[in-house]
Amino acid sequence: MPTISSKGLLMPESPIRKLVPYAEQAVKDGKFIYYLNIGQPDIKTPEGALKAVKENDIEILSYSKSEGSETYRKKLANYFKTHDIHVSSKDIVVTTGASEALLFVFGSIMDPDDEVIISEPFYANYIAFSTASGVKVVPIVSKIEDNFALPSIEAFEKLITPKTKAILICNPGNPTGNLYSKEEIQKLTAIVKKHDLFLIADEVYREFVYDGETHYSIMQEKEIEEHAIMIDSVSKRYSMCGARVGCLVSKNKSVIQTVIKFAQARLSPPTYAQIASEAALDTPRSYFDDVIAEYIERRDTLISELQKIDGIKVSNPKGAFYCVVELPIKNSDHFAQWLLEEFDINGETVMVAPAGGFYSTPGLGLNQVRIAYVLKKENLIKAVHILKEALKVYKD
Ligand SMILES: Cc1ncc(COP(=O)(O)O)c(C=O)c1O
Repeated sequence: MPTISSKGLLMPESPIRKLVPYAEQAVKDGKFIYYLNIGQPDIKTPEGALKAVKENDIEILSYSKSEGSETYRKKLANYFKTHDIHVSSKDIVVTTGASEALLFVFGSIMDPDDEVIISEPFYANYIAFSTASGVKVVPIVSKIEDNFALPSIEAFEKLITPKTKAILICNPGNPTGNLYSKEEIQKLTAIVKKHDLFLIADEVYREFVYDGETHYSIMQEKEIEEHAIMIDSVSKRYSMCGARVGCLVSKNKSVIQTVIKFAQARLSPPTYAQIASEAALDTPRSYFDDVIAEYIERRDTLISELQKIDGIKVSNPKGAFYCVVELPIKNSDHFAQWLLEEFDINGETVMVAPAGGFYSTPGLGLNQVRIAYVLKKENLIKAVHILKEALKVYKD
C-alpha cells in the first residue's frame, strides 16, 4: 500500500475534536451536553453582513484578487485606524481565516527546522501549522499562578538559538484569556529588535477586552515595523466563523510580497465571504458594547461559580472568552471523556477541553481544562454545578 508522509503522520489531531465521537454517542444516548469546550460564539452575526450576501445580485461568482478585494482591504485599513493601527491596503493580505494567514506566515518566514518561541499554553492549532511547515515550536511556560503573564526577558533569551526566527503571541489569549499590557509588548519589542526576530501577534480577539482595559497591538510599536506581523480574522469579531475570512498585516514589504505568492497559489479568498466581511465593517459600535457587556457578565458568572468549587485554581481572564482551570484531578483527557461517557445529572453533562493539547511540553496541563464562556449565563451556572458534582465522585 502507498504510504503516508512522515509530516502527515506527525500532524496532531485536534485535542478538542478527538472528544467529539464521545459527545456524539452521549447525545445518541439521550444526554444533553453543555458545550464549554468550543470557541464558536452563540452571538448573532451582524445583520448587515448577512444581508450583503442575501441581497447581492452577482451573476458570476468570480475569483477575487489573490491578496483580497481592493475595497475590502481599504475598508479594513480604516477599521484598523480606529484601533490606532496605521496601515494601508497594501500592507494587508486577505486570507481564508486567520488559520490560512498563519500557514502563509510560517511558510514565508521560516525554513524547515527553524524555531518559533510561543508562550504556552497556546492555541492548539499553532502546533499543526508548525508541523505542516516543518517548523519547531519552542515553548516558554507561562503560569496560572501569574495569570499567564508574559515570561521574563531572561527566560526568552535562554531559549533563543541561531535557529530562532520568530516569537508568536496570542493577544488576547486563547486559551488563557490573558491580555498583554503595553509594557509587555514593549519588552517583546526589545527582544525581537536585539535578536533580529519576527514578532507574530494573533490578535483575532482584539475586540474582546474587559474591565476598561485597552488592547495594545504590536503594530503600534513603530520601532519594529519590519519585524511585526499581525494576524486578524472576522471569525470571532463578528461571530462569522463560517465565513472563513481573515488577514495578515505587515509593513514589511518582503513579507507581504512573499505571502502574496502563497496567496496566488491558492488563487483567491472566498468572494461572497469578503462581501459579508466588508459589510460587517459597518457594524455600529453598539453591537460590540452589547456583546462585551454580555461576555463580562458571563465571565464574572463563570469565575464566581468556579471559585465555589474546592481545590480548583482559575485564571482571571481579561480578554477573549476562555479561561484555564486547574482541577483536583490527574488526567483531564480522561476526565473529559468520563464526563461524556459516564456522568450526568438528570440526563445533563458538560464537555470541556482538556488543556494538555494547549501545551507542547509533555506532561504540562494534564490537570487543567479550558472553559469557553460562549453559553448564556443561566446555562453556565448549570454547567459549573454539573462540574462541581462530577468532581465529588470522579476517581482518577
Ligand atoms: C487564537 C486563534 N487564532 C486563530 C484562530 C482561527 O481563526 P479563523 O477562524 O479565522 O481561521 C482561532 C480560532 O478559534 C483562534 O482561537
